[in-house]
Amino acid sequence: MSLPTKQQLAIGVIGTGGMGTRHAINLHRFVPGARVAAVYDLDGGRAAQAAAQSGGGVVFTDPLELIQDPSIEAVLIAAPDDIHARLTLACLEAGKPVLCEKPLATVVPDALAVVEAEVRIGSRLVSVGFMRRFDPEHVAVRTLGHSGAIGAPLLFKGVHRNASAAFGVTGATILINSAGHDIDSARWMLGSEVAEVRVLGRRSRPDLHADTRDLLVVELGFASGALAVVEVYVNAAYGYEVSAELVCQSGAAMTQQPDRALVRAAAHRGFPVPSDWLSRFQEAYVLELMDWVAAVREGRVFTGASAWDGLVTLLVTGACIQSLEGGAVVPLSLPTRPTLYGA
Ligand SMILES: NC(=O)c1ccc[n+]([C@@H]2O[C@H](COP(=O)([O-])OP(=O)(O)OC[C@H]3O[C@@H](n4cnc5c(N)ncnc54)[C@H](O)[C@@H]3O)[C@@H](O)[C@H]2O)c1
Repeated sequence: MSLPTKQQLAIGVIGTGGMGTRHAINLHRFVPGARVAAVYDLDGGRAAQAAAQSGGGVVFTDPLELIQDPSIEAVLIAAPDDIHARLTLACLEAGKPVLCEKPLATVVPDALAVVEAEVRIGSRLVSVGFMRRFDPEHVAVRTLGHSGAIGAPLLFKGVHRNASAAFGVTGATILINSAGHDIDSARWMLGSEVAEVRVLGRRSRPDLHADTRDLLVVELGFASGALAVVEVYVNAAYGYEVSAELVCQSGAAMTQQPDRALVRAAAHRGFPVPSDWLSRFQEAYVLELMDWVAAVREGRVFTGASAWDGLVTLLVTGACIQSLEGGAVVPLSLPTRPTLYGA
C-alpha cells in the first residue's frame, strides 16, 4: 500500500542521463515515501522521457526554478560534475535537502563554498552519492574490519575497472570522476584521514592519445598509520568490476562481486561480469535512496557521505593530481573538521 501523494516526499531530479534516470526510476519503483515530482535536463526530451518512466512528474525548463518551487521538498542532482556545487549551493539557499551525485565539485574552492554555506546554516542538508557505503558487500567488509574480530585494519586494497573510457581521458579526470569513489571507500573503511599520497599513471595502449593515463595506481598513507593501494583502470575491456579488501592484523575480508547466476556456455563455466556500475551497484543505489528519503522525512542525518566527505575527497584528489604530474609523494594536511560533521 503506498502513501497518499501529499504524504510522499516531493523530489526534483536535475540531470536525467544514465544516472539521473536510474535514480528517478528507482525512487518511483522502490523507495517508499517518495515521488519524483519534477525533473530537469538540458535536453528537454530526456527529461520528458525520465518523467514518463518515473510517475509523470512536471518537466521544468530551468533548474533554479525547480529548486525554488515551493512544492519541491528535496532535490537530487545527477547533472555533469562541473555544475554540482553551483546547484547544491542553490538548494542550500532555498533551504532544501539535496542528494548530490559525486563528485561534490570538480575544484576545491567550490566544494569548500558548499561546506561553508552548510556550516553557516547550521544544518546538514547536503548528502553526497558515494553509494559504495550502501553496497551490502562493502558494508560486510567494513563491519568485520571494525568489529575487532580480525584485529585493527592495516591496509585497504581496491580495484576499480571500467570497460572503456572516452578517448583522450586524462589522469586528472579519472582521479576526479572515478577514483573519488575509491578515496571515499578507503577513508570510510579505514576510519582515518589521508596524510600522504602517491600516484603513478600509464597509458595502456599506444593507439590512445599520448596524454592518456588510463591506468593509475593510487597509494595513500593514513594518519592512523594504515595504508591503501588502489588500481583504477578505465579501459579494462572485459567489463566493470570493483573490489575492496581490508587487510587487518589477524585476518582479511574482501568484497565478492554479487554473482546472480553460474552460467555454462560455449565450453566455459563461470560468472558473468557486469558491463557497468548501474547493474553492479543497483542494490546500493536503492538502499542509498531509501536511507536519504527516510533521513529527510524523519529529520535525521543521512548515514552516507556528507558535504565534508565530498570536500575531503576532493582535497585528496587534488594531492593525487599533483603527485601524478610530479611523480612525488605529496603530504596532505586537512582543515579542521567543523563540529557540524561530528567527531
Ligand atoms: N555514483 C555513481 O556510481 C555514479 C555513476 C555514474 C555517474 N555518476 C555521476 O552522475 C552524474 C551524471 O552522470 P551520467 O552517467 O548520468 O552522465 P550522462 O552523460 O549519462 O548524463 C548527464 C546528463 O546531464 C545533462 N546535462 C548536461 N548539462 C546539464 C545542465 N547544465 N543541467 C542539467 N543537466 C545537464 C545531459 O543532457 C545528460 O542527460 C555525473 O556527475 C557522474 O559523475 C555517479
